[in-house]
Amino acid sequence: MERLLDVLREQLRLTGTKEGCGEGECGACTVLIDGRIVNSCLVPVAQVEGCEIKTIEGIAISETQLHAVQQAFIECGGAQCGICTPGMVIAAVDLLEKNPNPTEAEIRNGLAGNLCRCTGYMKIFESVVRACEG
Ligand code: FES
Ligand code: FES
Repeated sequence: MERLLDVLREQLRLTGTKEGCGEGECGACTVLIDGRIVNSCLVPVAQVEGCEIKTIEGIAISETQLHAVQQAFIECGGAQCGICTPGMVIAAVDLLEKNPNPTEAEIRNGLAGNLCRCTGYMKIFESVVRACEG
């Protein structure tokens, strides 16, 4: 089975999407397929024919303007090694699109599928709070 993750990274050279566990556990490979959060390491590329796929490369507002979540990660130091960061950002963008004013619990829940092995959770959490404040 050819995985969507490999096609993105190796054929399309969209290397912003990362591989962590390769088993659907860490969220590093998160992308949006037709607006739904998906772990691309679990998706056979054949299944997504005709779907719209958005990766971290497509999250910025424009070439000169980052998404508020990306800007907040920079301002709050939300990235350490950066492996989890694209997935975290996409999860946060998805959360805020569905719920622009999440509670702290809703933020934690929205990021629950994404693991950070650098254990930078506090700064990641603060980044999402900052993004909500706009
Ligand atoms: S690499 Fe896909 S969930 Fe970890
Ligand atoms: S910043 Fe290193 S895994 Fe999260």
